[in-house]
Amino acid sequence: MYFDPKDGMRPPPFKHSVYNALVVPRPIGWISSISTDGVINLAPFSFFNALCGAPPCVMYCPNGFKTGTEEEKDSLTNVRETGEFVHNMCTVELLDAMNATSAHVPSSVDEMAAAGLHAVPCEKVKPPRIKESPIALECVVLQIVDLPAWDNTPPNTMVIGEVVGIHVDDNVIVDGMIDAREVKPLARLGYLDYAPILPEHVFSVPRPD
Ligand SMILES: Cc1cc2nc3c(=O)[nH]c(=O)nc-3n(C[C@H](O)[C@H](O)[C@H](O)COP(=O)(O)O)c2cc1C
Repeated sequence: MYFDPKDGMRPPPFKHSVYNALVVPRPIGWISSISTDGVINLAPFSFFNALCGAPPCVMYCPNGFKTGTEEEKDSLTNVRETGEFVHNMCTVELLDAMNATSAHVPSSVDEMAAAGLHAVPCEKVKPPRIKESPIALECVVLQIVDLPAWDNTPPNTMVIGEVVGIHVDDNVIVDGMIDAREVKPLARLGYLDYAPILPEHVFSVPRPD
């Protein structure tokens, strides 16, 4: 089948908006930020990725409003006001905590503590990282980009950050490399689906040249 997205993201026979299932698997940016009042915010974003390596840059997209409001998401307000965020790697073991942090809660709530996670201070930025996560990237905002929005739909935004500090749990370093078998990253698929990357899924392929 073929369809034009401007005609809607749910053409027959699809029962739900299909876009989230078209580009998979996606990594999950688990973004901690802090308000000017010092409240820790934490939320997952699967419109997230690494952009370049020298210097390392990442992006995530807080799209739409907080549910039931016309207010932008806290993960956007905080970085507009402070210019800093942290990406925490979400692993298979952290699935439930990650999912809990996608709830829409008042900005006065410390979402890291509410999810039963522990905050560890960062080296160069104010937002803390998650102790339970094996990899964390401290980031300063480079640019906040307004993405297109169709008529009468809420705004879409991309936050681009430069990574200024990197934390790696020594337990995931094996033979001088980060071992994905130890990290066990979690990937987002479409709808409410996820995929674990378990040791038996990982293999290496030599390059042709
Ligand atoms: C796995 C997962 C991925 C998500 N990805 C995004 C995303 O890329 N962009 C987005 O705006 N919301 C995404 N959400 C929803 C946000 O996490 C949710 O709106 C959250 O409450 C925002 O929190 P905040 O207001 O504290 O920033 C995702 C939720 C889940 C569970």
